[in-house]
Amino acid sequence: MTKPSTAATQRELRPYSGYHNRPAPSDDSFITQVGPGTPGGEYLRRYWHPFLLASELKDLPVPVRLLGEDLVVFRDGSGQLGLLHRHCIHRGTSLEYGIVAERGIRCCYHGWHFNVDGTVLDTPAEPQTSRIKDNFVQGAYRIHEWKGLLFAYMGPVDAEPEFPTYDCVDNPSDNEVVPFRMNLPCNWVQIVENGSDPIHNAYLHAIVAGQQFSAAFKVLPQLDFPETPLGFLSMATRKVGDYVFVRASDIILPNMGQFPNGANRVDAESVGLRPFLTRWAVAVDDHNSFYMGFAHLNSYNAGVRKISREDFGVDQIPFIGQTQDRPHAERQREPGDFDAVVTQGAVANRKAEHLGTTDRGVVLFRRLLANAIRTTAEGKVPVQPRLNGDKPVSTYAHEVVMRVPDDVNLDDPQRLAQFGREAALSFVEFDHLPPLERERAVDKKVREILQSMAHASAK
Ligand code: FES
Ligand SMILES: [Fe+2]
Repeated sequence: MTKPSTAATQRELRPYSGYHNRPAPSDDSFITQVGPGTPGGEYLRRYWHPFLLASELKDLPVPVRLLGEDLVVFRDGSGQLGLLHRHCIHRGTSLEYGIVAERGIRCCYHGWHFNVDGTVLDTPAEPQTSRIKDNFVQGAYRIHEWKGLLFAYMGPVDAEPEFPTYDCVDNPSDNEVVPFRMNLPCNWVQIVENGSDPIHNAYLHAIVAGQQFSAAFKVLPQLDFPETPLGFLSMATRKVGDYVFVRASDIILPNMGQFPNGANRVDAESVGLRPFLTRWAVAVDDHNSFYMGFAHLNSYNAGVRKISREDFGVDQIPFIGQTQDRPHAERQREPGDFDAVVTQGAVANRKAEHLGTTDRGVVLFRRLLANAIRTTAEGKVPVQPRLNGDKPVSTYAHEVVMRVPDDVNLDDPQRLAQFGREAALSFVEFDHLPPLERERAVDKKVREILQSMAHASAK
């Protein structure tokens, strides 16, 4: 990983100095490469990754590319899911042209028949006495189906982690999840960096490129990145009129994130442990990714933004600027996340950057990622989402809106930041509670925090 550029020389600071300011070549392969045998690829192969909507898989096999490997996925006649290396081990024909059987899949070329776990069931052209089928296996990976998404585990068999489920997906009971998948022609790390960068919500989504989020996002926030048992929160705290507004997204290593909706009008008190999106930035290969996961339809999100099941799907999400399917001029007039992130390059050149104080979340993510890759390379097990006994993993993405009491001064940036951090960490403090109970406990706690700030200023 590269270090940010340091002080420029006098010569570089002259106007019209393009000749002296060409970026150095990138060398971020340690964190950006995803293929087999690369340090980053080995690390990613210690986790479950979503790669397809279950509804995309019908009667025919589907070719997929994941972590730089060409694969084929199918559901056999008995309902078992198979994820196999795409090219047949006999002589390489693609199994996307394989014939799905009651059990497994049969290669179209010479009829070799593979079970979903890659074992060879039959080599019909060989003599009856042949033992060839016992001597080879087709590469295969485990699949787990959850809430309409197919997940793959592509690591060593004896290092397979338990499949983690997450509290906010199942709870509260009014929560309905809707799967979606977007294609982004860029490296996966840029997508996570975008989620670790809350100041872009003010500029890209409110001030510069059009009002894509609510008007409250025009207010410049205090940023913070407190660590959680899963990674960290990428958070912004604003004073909007008479209210204080905390918005915090989960950054969960390696590639998961949860984000509240961007539509909060900040005109009524609320405490919401309700992400709008739970998403993974999945590496297709070094230069392509999926932005995919679940949208959450529930009473909390419906209160601020009207959305329905039909709004989400493949390359479909009801928020401007997430795909390249708009006319180019329109994308220039009102660019969105797709335009900002993809144009950093297929693999962004981090050696050419000039980072500022608001990039602390991006720097933190890179550091945690590089450390985790190193841990894996040393033969250790990288941190997995913390399972909560037999309960789902507790997560932390949230919004808090509270009216600021007359005797509390949150116009002071340090006090505003302090309130935001204490409010956010109270979601961690009560993380043994299920979401609705945790919302109530945090509601009480943030009121106490505000009261104690009133007492402190009265002294
Ligand atoms: S190439 Fe698949 S059976 Fe021959
Ligand atoms: Fe964004």
